[in-house]
Amino acid sequence: MIAFPSTHRKAVRSACPAETEALAADVAGRLVAGDVVLVSGELGAGKTTFVRGAARALGVRGPVVSPTFTVGARYRGRQVTVAHLDLYRLGNLDDEDPALLADYFSGETIAFVEWPERAVEESLGHVVLRVALEHLGGDARQVTLEWRHGEGRRP
Ligand SMILES: Nc1ncnc2c1ncn2[C@@H]1O[C@H](COP(=O)(O)OP(=O)(O)OP(=O)(O)O)[C@@H](O)[C@H]1O
Ligand SMILES: [Mg+2]
Repeated sequence: MIAFPSTHRKAVRSACPAETEALAADVAGRLVAGDVVLVSGELGAGKTTFVRGAARALGVRGPVVSPTFTVGARYRGRQVTVAHLDLYRLGNLDDEDPALLADYFSGETIAFVEWPERAVEESLGHVVLRVALEHLGGDARQVTLEWRHGEGRRP
């Protein structure tokens, strides 16, 4: 895992699912095709909720739920394809096929990856942002955003 500069880290508090979705929508506006966002946190922390908010903002209309029988799903957005991966079960596969993942990372896609720690980060394409969600009790969550190049900035 590459260390991103600590100055590019920001923690905010979300009080409810709608706030997490709104934060994700704001994040989505700073992404471009080819970007990959890692979304980590315990079970029920709100990873899928975050991805849903981002996907909606990118123009995805249908349901956004974690894929169950496959490692990922692709949705059609307004300008880009949105990929949504959930690697929860990947850790159990010794012979993880890198090609299985590579399919989801392309220059025309913005990809969101739940349970990214199940894979080697280098196999996850061009990671520009790491999002970490933590329970703060009740519906409250801490959402930490760690940008590779600073908030939405391009090198
Ligand atoms: N502030 C909040 N942000 C996000 N979700 C919240 C918040 N408060 C309550 N929730 C609820 O917590 C649950 C989060 O579920 P979600 O599927 O997004 O979690 P997840 O991290 O993807 O879980 P999993 O590890 O099972 O994939 C939802 O029921 C959501 O409504
Ligand atoms: Mg999920």
